[in-house]
Amino acid sequence: MAPSLQHIAIIMDGNGRWAKKRLLPRTVGHVKGAANVRHMVKACAQAGVSYLTLFAFSSENWRRPPEEISALMGLFLQYLENEVAEMKAAGIRLRVIGDRSAFAPLLQSRIDQAEQETAHNDRLHLTIAANYGGQWDVLNAMRAWQVAHPDKNLQDLDANGLAAHLSTADLPDPELLIRTGGESRISNFLLWQTAYTELYFTDDFWPDFDAAALTKAIHWFEQRVRRFGRTDEQVAAQPITANANELSASPLAQTVFKIS
Ligand code: FPP
Repeated sequence: MAPSLQHIAIIMDGNGRWAKKRLLPRTVGHVKGAANVRHMVKACAQAGVSYLTLFAFSSENWRRPPEEISALMGLFLQYLENEVAEMKAAGIRLRVIGDRSAFAPLLQSRIDQAEQETAHNDRLHLTIAANYGGQWDVLNAMRAWQVAHPDKNLQDLDANGLAAHLSTADLPDPELLIRTGGESRISNFLLWQTAYTELYFTDDFWPDFDAAALTKAIHWFEQRVRRFGRTDEQVAAQPITANANELSASPLAQTVFKIS
């Protein structure tokens, strides 16, 4: 039986090289990349995926040349201004995760507006990670947990307690992470949330990653056997339903391995 697939996360890499190969400025690659976001949202909705999370701008991307940063911010703003009406009609809920306080006030207000206007949609949950870093997310969650539980100390914090304060607290963990652009690394994306995610790396540059490429990635995913620490025989006898956090918190794990 193919594993279930609700949530795909994508590291959209290779815009710059896509442009360089055509002797074009890097920003043209980003324009093409932004257009592909639109295509991929549609392709995921058609494939029946309920959650799509895209890495649009990492907390480390501020190190890029100022003109490239400004082009990326402009594209993000333009995307929000052009797409929200259609998202509302198509049942897409938009969320933005990351530290948005660093963005221009206009961009921040468009983000707030887009989130509010699509808040009741449920067909596809589109999450854009912008000024996001996985380490930031985990640290923030620990701090938020401490603020929410002033009478407790860190010994009381468990995996579910932390996950409840991540920026993705309302989303299931991704079952499949796709990275385009030929690199095989996570680059500080959803570090906590990808603990058991299947990782798919493709040489396609992001602007070239189309619906057929998505279908290929999904077919690859469907061949995976997801064991979550169990043996093949155990999985065959009883397909996995529990996630890793539930498993490590289980009474059996606590007794056999003395997990404290
Ligand atoms: C990585 O390619 C891509 C980015 C850092 C930005 C991704 C942004 C977009 C797809 C467009 C804007 C997003 C939205 C949501 C409208 P790269 O520049 O690192 O490529 P390279 O590795 O070939 O240089």
